[in-house]
Amino acid sequence: MVEAFAVASGKGGVGKTTSTLALGMALAEEYDVTVVDADTGMANLLFHTGLTDADTTLHDVLRDDAPVFEATYDRFGLCVVPCGTSLAGFRDADPTRLRNVVATLASETDVLLLDSPAALGSKSAVLPVVLADRVVVVLQPTIPSLSDALKVQEYATSYGTGVAGVLFNRVRDDDDIDGIETKTARYFDGPILGSVPESAAPRSARRASEPLLAHAPDSVAAHAYREVALALDVRAGDSEAVADRFRSAVIPDTP
Ligand SMILES: Nc1ncnc2c1ncn2[C@@H]1O[C@H](COP(=O)(O)OP(=O)(O)OP(=O)(O)O)[C@@H](O)[C@H]1O
Ligand SMILES: [Mg+2]
Repeated sequence: MVEAFAVASGKGGVGKTTSTLALGMALAEEYDVTVVDADTGMANLLFHTGLTDADTTLHDVLRDDAPVFEATYDRFGLCVVPCGTSLAGFRDADPTRLRNVVATLASETDVLLLDSPAALGSKSAVLPVVLADRVVVVLQPTIPSLSDALKVQEYATSYGTGVAGVLFNRVRDDDDIDGIETKTARYFDGPILGSVPESAAPRSARRASEPLLAHAPDSVAAHAYREVALALDVRAGDSEAVADRFRSAVIPDTP
């Protein structure tokens, strides 16, 4: 079985990378989980997983068509595919090869989480959303964040990608979470999966180069992510059918 999720948002810095790893670790209690840094222009996942010294990354795979297993690392109970951070690596990478990468991984894992770029500005930015079965939309509970995330939903659904749900992150006490939840329920297709508070633990986890659930498993934020993972109804897609769909996906030129 396999289901591929793009962890996406409209705005940057809302916590997609943090959430990809936290959901990945929570889901790894039950499933084989692979997380991929599909934010190939502004890759960050390696900084959250202690993989800054990785010899081979997704950039190499997308440049040379190298086997993705050369860029796959076992960390924190997950298979992690980090991406490099150099501009040259991004420039030389062929984003369309991501199709084969996810197709190969799909036959080896139960849950594939694609940490996605913010916004929808280029071919490499939209690919994770186009390829995934469903998106997990991460947003801060503000009207501008909601508005941007709605465009991601619109784009995703125009390519047949469903919405697995909405995750509020970096929620502060003074946010109008009730008002935003009402609007979210009205405008988004998927359920509200949960809320993660703005708190120190995710920041200190990042500084320690560890995912939140490894660094501070008893923190309020970690508990919230486990609740979100429970709310996510992972579907058991047929691995071969999903892999075929990835391989033959039509890639849009521009959003
Ligand atoms: N719940 C939270 N509370 C406090 N800080 C958080 C929380 N979630 C994430 N952060 C911090 O916010 C910053 C951005 O998080 P992250 O890199 O996960 O966001 P992103 O959406 O992936 O960003 P980008 O759009 O740049 O890829 C990081 O410093 C992270 O530690
Ligand atoms: Mg990120």
